[in-house]
Amino acid sequence: MLKTNEICLHYGSSQILYNISIEAMIGEITCLMGSNGVGKTSLLKVLSGNHPSSSGNYILNEKDVTNFEAHELASRGVGYVPQGRFIFPLLTVEENLMSGFAVLKKDERYIPKLIFDLFPVLKKMLSRKGGDLSGGQQQQLAIARALIMQPKLLLLDEPTEGIQPNIITLIGEVIDYLKSQKNMAIILVEQYFDFAFARADNIFAITRGEIVYEGRKAIIDKKKLRKAVSI
Ligand SMILES: Nc1ncnc2c1ncn2[C@@H]1O[C@H](COP(=O)(O)OP(=O)(O)O)[C@@H](O)[C@H]1O
Ligand SMILES: [Mg+2]
Repeated sequence: MLKTNEICLHYGSSQILYNISIEAMIGEITCLMGSNGVGKTSLLKVLSGNHPSSSGNYILNEKDVTNFEAHELASRGVGYVPQGRFIFPLLTVEENLMSGFAVLKKDERYIPKLIFDLFPVLKKMLSRKGGDLSGGQQQQLAIARALIMQPKLLLLDEPTEGIQPNIITLIGEVIDYLKSQKNMAIILVEQYFDFAFARADNIFAITRGEIVYEGRKAIIDKKKLRKAVSI
């Protein structure tokens, strides 16, 4: 589904990512792990078209999409839930959800029932302003908005950050449900080790912009992984 070959990224003259090569498959959860400031968000910005890479390439569905713009990637099925959520605070919950319609065909522009089955609280809050929601509710809204675009690749940047335990459990169940549907590839960036490890199929550990350890969850050495992600 997704493959990157030796992606590098610079902000001005400072290099942040070094030769990042990853793969993510449909029906699987691919985890990117690593401590603060190692470049996880920067990598998702490349994968969502929110920042260009300086070299390397990005293949999506066997097509080279290197440095395509965010809207082009969205229309090719890339759903992005950025770190810090970035919902529209002055728009209502419903309007926030409808902002995902842009990439859909006219007859697909409705909020599917599934969204409210996964996130019942959003149904009750449709006419509330996004900015009035709690952090956990905003995170649910951000994930729901990405799902409305019917993504084939879902990028989740630290969905549990600053979220209370019962909502973390709910978000975990939603991610597990999405995986069970086997119709999208999920890339999960997480610092919450147990949350990520529990549901990962494939794991990449990043330190200072480089992949330092990787492997299928079934065979990866958990101790080595813990060490790699704590640097
Ligand atoms: N827009 C930017 N301009 C310059 N430096 C940035 C920018 N965004 C992030 N950085 C720097 O790039 C590095 C990686 O950041 P980031 O990708 O956010 O890491 P992570 O998500 O792993 O915490 C950090 O040193 C951060 O300060
Ligand atoms: Mg980050």
